Amino acid sequence: MSPASARALTVDSLNPKVLALADHLRGAVAGRAQRMQKELETNPGLYPFDEIIYCNLSNPHYLGQQPIKFFREVLALCDYPHLLNCSVTSSIFSSDAITRAREILDLIPGRAMGGYSHCQGTEGLRNAIAVGIATRDAFPCNAEDIFLTDGAAAPVHMVMHLLIRDEKDGILCPIPSHFLYTSSMALCGATLVPYYLDESGGWAVSISDLKKQLDGARSEGITVRGLVVVNPGNPTGQVLVKENQCEIVEFCRIENLVLLADEVYQENVYTDEKRFISFKKIARSMGFGEEDISLISFHSVSNGYYGECGRRGGYMEVTGFNSEVRKQVYKVASLSSCSNLAGQVLVSLVMNPPKVGDESYTSYWEERDRIMLSLSRCAEAMVQAFNSLEGLTCSKAEGAMFVFPSVRLPKRAIAAAEAMNTKPDVFYALRLLENTGIVLLPGSVFGQVPGTWHFRCTILQQEEKIQLIINRFKAFHETFMEEFRD
Ligand SMILES: Cc1ncc(COP(=O)(O)O)c(C=O)c1O
Repeated sequence: MSPASARALTVDSLNPKVLALADHLRGAVAGRAQRMQKELETNPGLYPFDEIIYCNLSNPHYLGQQPIKFFREVLALCDYPHLLNCSVTSSIFSSDAITRAREILDLIPGRAMGGYSHCQGTEGLRNAIAVGIATRDAFPCNAEDIFLTDGAAAPVHMVMHLLIRDEKDGILCPIPSHFLYTSSMALCGATLVPYYLDESGGWAVSISDLKKQLDGARSEGITVRGLVVVNPGNPTGQVLVKENQCEIVEFCRIENLVLLADEVYQENVYTDEKRFISFKKIARSMGFGEEDISLISFHSVSNGYYGECGRRGGYMEVTGFNSEVRKQVYKVASLSSCSNLAGQVLVSLVMNPPKVGDESYTSYWEERDRIMLSLSRCAEAMVQAFNSLEGLTCSKAEGAMFVFPSVRLPKRAIAAAEAMNTKPDVFYALRLLENTGIVLLPGSVFGQVPGTWHFRCTILQQEEKIQLIINRFKAFHETFMEEFRD
């Protein structure tokens, strides 16, 4: 083949960091589920079930969760301001949504939802978000510290680019954790310094393990730059206790690490015994200010009771860096011009929902409570069902949108998986899918202590389906255990 006709790009000439991304991102189980869904459309009798049930997706609206009315009203009015001048509008939209849309449009240069904004995000919206954060934390928040972003994934990648110089730089990252972090590190060429969450301790962060991993990495010449902590946790669903958070802050301060606090599930807490506390509030309560600790926290409109993941709204709050570093953060943020305006508006609403006296106040709380209670009941039913089954142990779902049970697979099941060159947890999840139509994500997608097997199941299915899922799951699991019993 002459050079002229050779392909300009082949797999061999791709960036090796892309090739180094874990294979699980291609999703053996999710891919199989999609193919089965297509098959069912043309041949409905092909499997012993009539639909694929996606317990792998953290996509609330896709799974039937209804959007919060107030948020959508404001977005609609901002996107089509012509409505604000129509007499019919006041009979369709609530009065506080109309007022809020007017206020928001006044903050947006040119009142142009289709325009670029300031690259850090519209100033007036950042001011509103800073007020929301300060109210949440009871500590001041500076709007200059807020960068409005397209969800939380985009700023995580950005921060990795800022921190990682070469493969000698590492980041402490929880295992199990969302693959966003491990893949972002892989793309930047960072060294992953894993620390294992303590399953028997309710998925807490073990400071002794952190120290061991940090010292181990340093002894190998790795410069550890930061520590990722996800609270509430994905896939593990834990809410950290305050004492543990204080230990983490102290650890980062003493070891001079940037604390990367993923707080995207801050609204998803289902236990009365715990509550979400931001790492910034923890640090400030401990008396640590800007000089003491470098902290970046991430939030997003994708989760919570709002679940607006397709809107791609989010922010990062950047504190504890000197002005030179901040200029560089700003420079990198400006490369993507600005985040989308609808996402920016939505973050400002999420951080400043209707207040007492507003027309939407009661309906907003009713919608919010309905969603949260439904998630909570779903989580409880799933945890109870999983714990009732042979070989399954499931921690309480305290927060986020997931349960992450461990499953003790019989040796014969592990051997059968290995004979097929498949990971045992993938084997289990594929068997479940083929027998029930239920899609789960195997624990190996998130990492797990070697020799243990888990799966992640979301709690987002509509409540009327939960019993069906549990019944199908139980029947499958009992048959599976019988088939492979040692
Ligand atoms: C822990 C965690 N962080 C970040 C993200 C990124 O979310 P998004 O980019 O949709 O805001 C997710 C998405 O599921 C997540 O689970």
